[in-house]
Amino acid sequence: MGLGSVLGGVAPSLAAGAGDFWMPFQGSTTAPAVDRLFYFIFWVSVFFFVLIVGLSLYFVIRYRSRRGHRAEASPHHNTALELTWTIIPLVLVVVIFGWGFTVFMDMTTTPANAYEVQVTGQKWTWFFTYPNGHVDENLHVPVDRPVNLVMTSEDVIHSFFVPAFRLKRDVIPGRYTKTWFRATQPGEYQIYCAEYCGTAHADMLAKVVVHPPGGFERWLEDAGNLLDRMSPAEAGAMLVSSRGCLQCHSVDGRSGIGPTFLGAFGAERPMRDGALVLMDENYVRESILDPNAQITAGYEAVMPTYRGRLTDREITAIIEYLKTLQ
Ligand code: CUA
Repeated sequence: MGLGSVLGGVAPSLAAGAGDFWMPFQGSTTAPAVDRLFYFIFWVSVFFFVLIVGLSLYFVIRYRSRRGHRAEASPHHNTALELTWTIIPLVLVVVIFGWGFTVFMDMTTTPANAYEVQVTGQKWTWFFTYPNGHVDENLHVPVDRPVNLVMTSEDVIHSFFVPAFRLKRDVIPGRYTKTWFRATQPGEYQIYCAEYCGTAHADMLAKVVVHPPGGFERWLEDAGNLLDRMSPAEAGAMLVSSRGCLQCHSVDGRSGIGPTFLGAFGAERPMRDGALVLMDENYVRESILDPNAQITAGYEAVMPTYRGRLTDREITAIIEYLKTLQ
């Protein structure tokens, strides 16, 4: 089976650009509620901006200082006027608070039958872990079913942001944050990191892939037994992509945050301590499990360990894939 067919199985994006002028596509059940509240606050603000600035300009011109005109004594208070400009804003802010609180509670309270996916943020990629143990670089979900995200970070604070779902939540090391959504349309939706987290923050991208009815279960079963369906090198290529290696290591010779994988296997490279080290199976394995043990000259010790996050079989598959990059 080719690599493309694993990523495929879902129609190309139908929703990515289909929003209106102001807002992206409404891809979740909460999106219309958030937009209604947003537009209410927006138009109330526009109305009072025009009213207040318009009256100010009018008064500035109408009552300007001019020759032969004597200023009148300052007016005393006007109870009716003062009650009006107190009560109207009070009603407005109470309405906005009540409305906002209701929408916020709906967004915060996960429905009981939600499907749970673990989300991990790590400089600079997202991982999505499914109940069967599969880890993916994209968030695959069934359409029209509540999905609960239990999120944490391996390093610094990230923020999980899906504009089409009107969903944004901080992802914090050492604790779990939760959020949920219910996608309404099959398609692909962009995920961003919305909290500045270092060099490749802007590249910390992923997709939500919303599957049509039945499609998600098929995808999960296929994705879960990657190593049984593919040659080790093919599975290795998938793993290198899905576990975030390519955020720092290129496969085309370009130097990134880490050294390129192209032509690396079997080559001797100088380490930071001056030693010349052959990149063989054991070096790759050590670099995955204990990245700071031997660092190539010219690079920083920034790679996190994958101990406990890749099985021996998966590490072997990655090694087989690296061998093909010559
Ligand atoms: Cu992660 Cu910005």
